[in-house]
Amino acid sequence: MLNGEHGEVLEKMFRLLVRLGDIYGADKMIPVGSVQVAGVSFKSIDMPGLEFLEDYAKKGATVKVLTFLNPAGMDMENWKDLGFPEDFAEKQIRVMDAFREMGIVITSTCTPYLAGNLPRFGEHIAWSESSAVSFSNSVIGARTNREGGPSALAAALCGLTPNYGLHLDENRKPNLVVNVNAELQNNADFGALGYHVGKIVKNKIPYFKGIKNANTDQLKALGAAMAASGAVALYHVENLTPEAHFMDIKGLESVDVGKNELKETYEKLNTGENPDIVILGCPHASLREISELSEKLKGKKLKKPLWVCTSRVMKECANRMGYTEIIENAGGKIVADTCMVVSPIEKMGFKTTGVDSGKAANYLPGFCKQNVVFNNIDELIKVIT
Ligand code: F3S
Repeated sequence: MLNGEHGEVLEKMFRLLVRLGDIYGADKMIPVGSVQVAGVSFKSIDMPGLEFLEDYAKKGATVKVLTFLNPAGMDMENWKDLGFPEDFAEKQIRVMDAFREMGIVITSTCTPYLAGNLPRFGEHIAWSESSAVSFSNSVIGARTNREGGPSALAAALCGLTPNYGLHLDENRKPNLVVNVNAELQNNADFGALGYHVGKIVKNKIPYFKGIKNANTDQLKALGAAMAASGAVALYHVENLTPEAHFMDIKGLESVDVGKNELKETYEKLNTGENPDIVILGCPHASLREISELSEKLKGKKLKKPLWVCTSRVMKECANRMGYTEIIENAGGKIVADTCMVVSPIEKMGFKTTGVDSGKAANYLPGFCKQNVVFNNIDELIKVIT
């Protein structure tokens, strides 16, 4: 590939991987089982990104392994009804067409593991969305560094990634113990904990003690918030995550997190009041989350819009189970393929957004110029009913 025998695109892409490997001291390239590519929303990549992708697609670039996409800038089917601008939509469709030509599965989600791209324990993968990286490393025990858009695309086209960082046993050990002394009731509590711990550990690997139970949705909320506030790509939870019992935590520094720290985090993340819209599903909602929400909304009439962001696959299941109908009867919408952060909500008239996600609360002020109301779903529904 380096000699250009497989064409100009692979030469460039492989060169990028070799360079990365040199920088991080990789000893070799390793095959990857799957890839997840970020840099999909036209809002993030703009014309230079679109032209780059179209150029590669035209030159015949084709992926070698199962490759999924991160959320796009809009719902690819219902964008008109939801009010996405026409000129934005036209560009976003071109982006998706270029990815499809390269053989990439154009289902856009930050929860590929719920939508048909599930790695196994110990499998080497090259994923780029930070919450998906955190989930696959921590909850599944697969192995990935947090790839950038270009390095993930390179891994997809070459089928390889340099062997460094979290692909290696020695770099998966925790460096800090976090003692949790608080009852965590819902996704928002897990998000608040993640946001707080991310700020403390910054790039390190925390080992949680004291979390008695958590389902996969709560772990995805925890990991997403930690990835957003502290670039944490791997964490362990005693008795809950698969690598925790291999880890030796003797002698590690420790910090305590209790009710007060969580309360302060809620206060810090709340920068607004009276949301114009509530957007749930960061990371993209699972079927369990959609079904629980539909129960909460039965017979209600919302006064403000409510979106639930999810993958196309989950939306299809929600349609079949009648959850979509219940949510829509209350005035809400299930929005697939996109999310509150990568879609242009600031251009759609929204100024204050209600969320139950620590990650979304972290990014909305900067990326989307939003004031944020951060709370659990029950409270958010109350405010807009
Ligand atoms: Fe996913 Fe968007 Fe949140 S990509 S993790 S829903 S910011």
